[in-house]
Amino acid sequence: MKIVQMSDIHVGSGLFRPELLSATIEETNSLEPDLVAVVGDLTTEGYRWEFEEAKGYLDRIECENVIVTMGNHDAKSVGYRHFEELFGMREGATTIPIPEGEAKVVALDSTKPDLDEGEIGREHYAWLDSEFRDWDRGPKILLVHHHILAVPGTGRDVNNLRDAGDVMAILRELRVDMVLSGHRHVPYVWSISGVRIIHSGTVSSMRVRGTMPPSYNVIDLDEDSVKITLHQPGKGKGGEEPLASFSRKPVTTSEFYPDFSRFVLYDRLPFLR
Ligand SMILES: [Fe+2]
Ligand SMILES: [Fe+2]
Repeated sequence: MKIVQMSDIHVGSGLFRPELLSATIEETNSLEPDLVAVVGDLTTEGYRWEFEEAKGYLDRIECENVIVTMGNHDAKSVGYRHFEELFGMREGATTIPIPEGEAKVVALDSTKPDLDEGEIGREHYAWLDSEFRDWDRGPKILLVHHHILAVPGTGRDVNNLRDAGDVMAILRELRVDMVLSGHRHVPYVWSISGVRIIHSGTVSSMRVRGTMPPSYNVIDLDEDSVKITLHQPGKGKGGEEPLASFSRKPVTTSEFYPDFSRFVLYDRLPFLR
């Protein structure tokens, strides 16, 4: 399975670089991925014209499975209404046929209007469980804009997922293979308790941190391994470098014994009864 992961397009910012986004889309089309994950921050202020411009670019992606999630910038100015009109549901679960079977992909909206920080929210936990727990036909992949774990080289951190602890415990319990996130504009990979958390940088803006250039990730997954390569848009082979690799089977170096429910109990959603 091949995935192109990009985020933090930031149309509307004076630091948006359209030529980087165009190059990324051309390169994505030539890679012929099974999934293109666009994990949030399409816009800068959540304005309709920014969403329309972003959609104009993303519509040029030829892949059949393009999944777009909201970022905190897209939730400014009540931008989620434009997102829904132009991109459809803000969250959902889908299955994607891949050479190794079928991947389950869940996209979540971690944003709250006008806040920089994110939250999955207790109301989502039981749904996440129902999508992932019994899935045995291929990789389990979660798409969410905000970072669950701190990203090095990004300064001090005050806007990660507010319920990161609960979410991490759920991902461990459900043996989720990969989480694809953006938000910090720095590409980085963690592997904790068998869960791989893969952050992409900003693909098409100069809202960069330190020495890290604009980039996107290409993830190659087969039966034995997962390899992640960093690509700088428009730079060809010279702009590629290995970011991370790990075995396909999750490696956990520790056992944790207490029952999951001692830490996280799902909401019973009384309004659904
Ligand atoms: Fe961003
Ligand atoms: Fe963000």
